[in-house]
Amino acid sequence: MRRSMRSLLVATAAAALVLPLCAVSAANATPPGFSSADKDALRNQAPSDLAIGSAVWGKQQLTDYDPAAPTEYQQVLGAQFSSLTPENDMKWDAIHPAPGVYDFASADALVAYAEANHQQVRGHTLLWHSQNPAWVTEAGAAWTCDQARDVLEDHIRTVVGHFKGRIYEWDVANEIFQDTWDNGGVRLRTEANPFLRACADDPVALLVDAFRWAHEADPDAVLFLNDYNAEGVNEKTDAYYELAERMLDAGAPLGGFGAQGHLSLLYGFDTSIQANFERFAALGLQVAVTEADVRIPLLEGETGPTPEQVAVQAERYDAMLEACLNVTACSSFTVWGFPDANSWVPDVFPGEGWATILEDDYSPKPAFDAMLRSLQDATPGVSPRRG
Ligand code: G3I
Repeated sequence: MRRSMRSLLVATAAAALVLPLCAVSAANATPPGFSSADKDALRNQAPSDLAIGSAVWGKQQLTDYDPAAPTEYQQVLGAQFSSLTPENDMKWDAIHPAPGVYDFASADALVAYAEANHQQVRGHTLLWHSQNPAWVTEAGAAWTCDQARDVLEDHIRTVVGHFKGRIYEWDVANEIFQDTWDNGGVRLRTEANPFLRACADDPVALLVDAFRWAHEADPDAVLFLNDYNAEGVNEKTDAYYELAERMLDAGAPLGGFGAQGHLSLLYGFDTSIQANFERFAALGLQVAVTEADVRIPLLEGETGPTPEQVAVQAERYDAMLEACLNVTACSSFTVWGFPDANSWVPDVFPGEGWATILEDDYSPKPAFDAMLRSLQDATPGVSPRRG
């Protein structure tokens, strides 16, 4: 049964009129216009030490933001989430399109929207093998390690410095390990990533410095490693665990480990997420679910999933959230955008879809309801939470 969209929009009109403020210190400090009585808002039902986020593409969704006349999407985004991740706006190709040229327009619009809606921002991302501009891809092929280091240091100091004090968590290094099925198996991406490639003789030293540069540019931001297929205890997360130990031993200001949480009903579900989070937490790190979505293989000729698929999707979203709720070091849980019309999934996985927690008219799916119930059960507004 669908609830009306109205119930998801409670109190947003008032919140949208609030002037920009500094980033809130607690993840779920209740902004004016919101009330913990708003039982249908994820952000209001979360424990005070857990941010509930969504990815958003600022360039497409927020550059026209008018606090006096928010779009329906902007109202839902503000009502439901206490944290935003730029889906594309802070990636290299968007923010550093040419040597020495930085374009902060859409990222600035996103941060301004977040602050107007009393949301925190997760920065994404500073070192990745994908979505690099042509000048990095082309020039990078001939870089020495010193040249690569200079380019990366300038980028990190400039971008992190630009947003200093306004970003609570940064995905400093994204997807730096290959998968088991890649040529050579699980190992650092010293071929695909131009920076790691140039410094392949000692990639860990580059990573340590990347985190150091980010920390010097914004000492208050918690600095994350982030990857997919990194939810449970597996070969890839074993590699991350060893890397985290090495980086911490070398004095890197590594603060967190993020599991993206891109799941598919085509595959089984790994129930060791909590155990994985606990081992990283035992290293003194925060953990986070950073990009959750659960895609569904849609049957030939069908536009929607079966009731069974809908139920399994809800279970998987909820299991990821439960693992996060059960580990107090889990600082944020972010879904990778909404609604399905905005999802990256159909472009990349033909035949799969329906991956987000809201319908295209913003009414809640069972996955949304399951998450809301779990948050309500975890004693909203208090810290520390259970577990
Ligand atoms: O650059 C053009 C832009 O100029 C134009 O306005 C736009 C029109 O559609 O196309 C733009 O390119 C898009 C690009 O994002 C923006 O830089 C591509 O079409 C689009 O396919 C691309 O997809 C993004 C993808 O990362 C790229 O790798 C998705 O939106 C984004 O959801 C996805 O996010 C990644 C995370 O960052 C890391 N983890 C995996 C996750 C899913 O792939």
